[in-house]
Amino acid sequence: MELVHTIAEVRARHDAARAAGRVVGLVPTMGFLHDGHRSLMIAAGAECGFVTVTIFVNPLQFGPNEDLDAYPRDLEGDLKLAEGAGVDLVFAPTVAEMYPDGAVATSVRVNGLADQLEGASRPGHFDGVATVVAKLFSIAGACRAYFGEKDYQQLQIVTRMARDLSIPVQVIGCPTIREPHGLARSSRNAYLDGVERQAAGVLKRALDAGVGAIDAGERATDAVEARMAEVIAGEPRAALDYARVVDASSLERRDVLHGTVRLLIAARVGAARLIDNVGAQAG
Ligand code: PAF
Repeated sequence: MELVHTIAEVRARHDAARAAGRVVGLVPTMGFLHDGHRSLMIAAGAECGFVTVTIFVNPLQFGPNEDLDAYPRDLEGDLKLAEGAGVDLVFAPTVAEMYPDGAVATSVRVNGLADQLEGASRPGHFDGVATVVAKLFSIAGACRAYFGEKDYQQLQIVTRMARDLSIPVQVIGCPTIREPHGLARSSRNAYLDGVERQAAGVLKRALDAGVGAIDAGERATDAVEARMAEVIAGEPRAALDYARVVDASSLERRDVLHGTVRLLIAARVGAARLIDNVGAQAG
């Protein structure tokens, strides 16, 4: 496995891989890698002849009061995990390499999909994500890119962005990896102490309760969302931000559920703001 820090080196390695007939698999990350990331690398390795992991804590996607400076970092640990997962190349650029002019004049915005849910709670967040992912796709060239379903709204946004801009990258969503009590693996779980980590399992229990209501025939969106909120309210360490049921592709909220839907939840547990989601079929 090779570690590189410049865009030119990534382009050269990817051009050589493609010239040798290998499909490039890209796993964009912000580092502090865990089993969720490992599953993306394994999926990429199973389908691609050359796997690149990018590690870049992207300042553009953090709001002024968010955790950019405190965001957990561990390049040494990340390199070990990536090597163990069979990765060929790690791209860990500096901020100056990615944004040599400081503030970017060009920003990518995916209208509609970026406005609600996380977009409403974190204004500008998805413009920062779409902009850096567009850059990473442009740097990587033709490839398959692997993203976790854990960040479901992000997955829909980067998929739409690649399609709208005719970027030759196939975006692949991979299932969420969970701890035994249901907590979705996330770098932000590092902010939780042992008791909070247990308490954070409430997000998955709330989602399961919502799915249970839909499976039992409930079709009123309000009622399913209220059921999820009720479960969160039962855990004193958790504070709900939102519990929503939306169309799985457009992310639009309808009063009456039908078709393939996605249940999404965001809550604070201790110092961590956590998100999670699951799918369901409403008739
Ligand atoms: O999901 C993440 O880790 C980030 O949002 C991403 C896609 C690497 C862009 O910075």
